[in-house]
Amino acid sequence: MEQKKRIFSGIQPSGDLTLGSYMGAIRNWVALQEEYDCLYCIVDMHAITVRQVPADLRRRSLEQLAQYIACGLDPEKNIMFIQSHVPQHAELAWVLGCYTQFGELSRMTQFKQKSQQHADNITAGLFTYPVLMAADILLYQADLVPVGEDQKQHVELCRDIATRFNFSFSDTFTLPEPFIPKLGARIMSLGNPENKMSKSDPDGCVYLMDKPEDIMRKFKRAVTDCETAVRFDRENKPGISNLLTIYCAATGKTLEDAEAEFKDQGYGVFKPAVGEAVVELVRPIREEAARLLSDKAYLESIYKQGAERASALANKTLRKVYKKVGFVAR
Ligand code: TRP
Repeated sequence: MEQKKRIFSGIQPSGDLTLGSYMGAIRNWVALQEEYDCLYCIVDMHAITVRQVPADLRRRSLEQLAQYIACGLDPEKNIMFIQSHVPQHAELAWVLGCYTQFGELSRMTQFKQKSQQHADNITAGLFTYPVLMAADILLYQADLVPVGEDQKQHVELCRDIATRFNFSFSDTFTLPEPFIPKLGARIMSLGNPENKMSKSDPDGCVYLMDKPEDIMRKFKRAVTDCETAVRFDRENKPGISNLLTIYCAATGKTLEDAEAEFKDQGYGVFKPAVGEAVVELVRPIREEAARLLSDKAYLESIYKQGAERASALANKTLRKVYKKVGFVAR
């Protein structure tokens, strides 16, 4: 039997999961679970590169796991785990950090942005964040890394580090590729449709755990334009185009069908219709996540099993690396 390709991806539990994370990432992960050998990580160690409230971080990490499962990720088919439970991530990150240049890290766009946003707290962790991300990926010899555009540069850096290491020693790491799935819908903020929907913008984003009335309110208030036509035009009608994208992603309809459906209708009909489609899409996810969260023992069994399976794979890579760099075997 042909070996399945391996996929690794992760989301930071730095905020509650949004409709954007679902439509842009998790839904694709669900589609990949049959064909690939997948690891999906809750990257809590990345989250502390900016300040977090400890109790919130802990709650969101568990919620994220429940939501992964509620979205349809099968914990038997995929390895789902919490990054800090597998110490090999931190261990490999140290070694890789010694094969990464200060200049390379200084050029990372995300570092430049985040160090501006958090100017009073520019830590070494924020700076070396991409090295930890490289360790995440390389530990499992991942072939493909599903990420959004904003993370492509980090995956490129990961390849550079891996190439350098392989060249200095001998082939150790699989070179991963960024994988931007065709299906992935890029969901923008409801309040500011020029920007990506972000979990740190509560009015512009819909959380998977939002109640129906909150979702409806957010869609009714969504920023549009002063025309009346429901027509897709990213340039001139970013708000309406985003709502159309969401409507199609939620209902499975094509753009043409959606445009035809609302041809003679104004925004006053269209916006609540999008809201209702989203309410129906997220309702089963929210209910299932809430049910899973009330069963702490089950969630614990999933993350423990995930960490054990991940750790066994990670150890193989880490032992090779330690040997190659010249550490004495323990
Ligand atoms: N940096 C990613 C983000 O913010 C999260 C992440 C951490 C990740 N490690 C990863 C994504 C490994 C893919 C693979 O979105």
